[in-house]
Amino acid sequence: MSPLPENTLIGMCNPLLDIQTTVEKSFLDKWGLKENDAILCDDKHNDMFTELTKDFTVEYIPGGAAQNSLRVAQWILNSPNRTVFFGAVGKDQYGELLATKAKEAGVNVQYQINETVKTGTCAALINGTHRSLCAHLAAANTFTQDHLQKEENQKIIEQAKYFYVTGFFITVCPPAIIQLATHSAEFNKTFTLNLSAPFISQFFFDKLSEIIPLVDVLFGNEDEAAAFANAHGWETTCVKEIALKAAALPKKSTKPRLVVFTQGPEPVVVVEGDKVTEYPVTRLPKEEIVDTNGAGDAFVGGFLSQFIQGKGIEASVACGSYAAQEIIKKHGCTVPSVCKYH
Ligand code: AP5
Ligand code: NA
Repeated sequence: MSPLPENTLIGMCNPLLDIQTTVEKSFLDKWGLKENDAILCDDKHNDMFTELTKDFTVEYIPGGAAQNSLRVAQWILNSPNRTVFFGAVGKDQYGELLATKAKEAGVNVQYQINETVKTGTCAALINGTHRSLCAHLAAANTFTQDHLQKEENQKIIEQAKYFYVTGFFITVCPPAIIQLATHSAEFNKTFTLNLSAPFISQFFFDKLSEIIPLVDVLFGNEDEAAAFANAHGWETTCVKEIALKAAALPKKSTKPRLVVFTQGPEPVVVVEGDKVTEYPVTRLPKEEIVDTNGAGDAFVGGFLSQFIQGKGIEASVACGSYAAQEIIKKHGCTVPSVCKYH
């Protein structure tokens, strides 16, 4: 294998095809979904997916949180294969579509392919300015650690300097996360994690807590921060206070932990060690907002595109905000063909 580009970023998460459509509140009620949430579907939602594809005009958009972020990072970096993605898909049309879209964006996808289970999907249900996500992980849920042990993937891991894993992946394969994070700590690399959704802190807190000591950079939004605080029993909903406490949690390496919490149009809160900084966001005028689906993922993609080049926090946040705004102006987590970021 040829050497990877310098400072390669590895992402690991669930590769999902988003099935996006607009629905009435009554549809959400019928399937027990909240207006603004991200959950895993259960058996009762199987019929919902059938109904969506039968009775609604739907758009199929490549999704999966970390894969979105890597596509955005590639768009900004504008040089192929700066990022590598691990996750599991089925041997089917959806899996092929996801791979094609990721490769077109310049992401080096290294999927584990499951011959018997279908590629995962995520219903992205837009209702006014809200969106409800209901993920059917399917093949994504069958990822196993031995995919990382393959010789070609071992080489990729050895050469990479940065890792980005989503909290979503904690429901799938914690041993694979621990493997990457431990490797990162051992070789003084950088391991980054996203809190991803409140349900991760609510229902997978033990697993999350095993990973936190290995995390160098922690991402999340204000709802995820609140759920994380609640799971710790911290009696506060102040994002700054939660970020400070999260940064101060025990850590394996001596590198100070960086915590980056977004709050929609409100300032981005960054804690480095014990220092808090707020970075204001330029509000987009209402008429330019198409949907915020993928804003958080795009922020991370933009942030990491600069961070892996050693650009510093201010430049990383600025690029994160730029990327998020570009995505907000389009449907789903899609980018314009040309990147004007310098
Ligand atoms: P989704 O949760 O929609 O994406 P997201 O990127 O997290 O978008 P949010 O709208 O939730 O943003 P946020 O709250 O994180 O960020 P914030 O608003 O703070 O999910 C998208 C993907 O998740 C889908 O593709 C799906 O496949 C995937 N997914 C679902 N379940 C999954 C699972 N189990 N496993 C794997 N994948 C799964 O905003 C961030 C930044 O945006 C701000 O800091 C700011 O810079 C900017 N911004 C936001 N609002 C404004 C505004 N009004 N004006 C200007 N800038 C703004
Ligand atoms: Na969007």
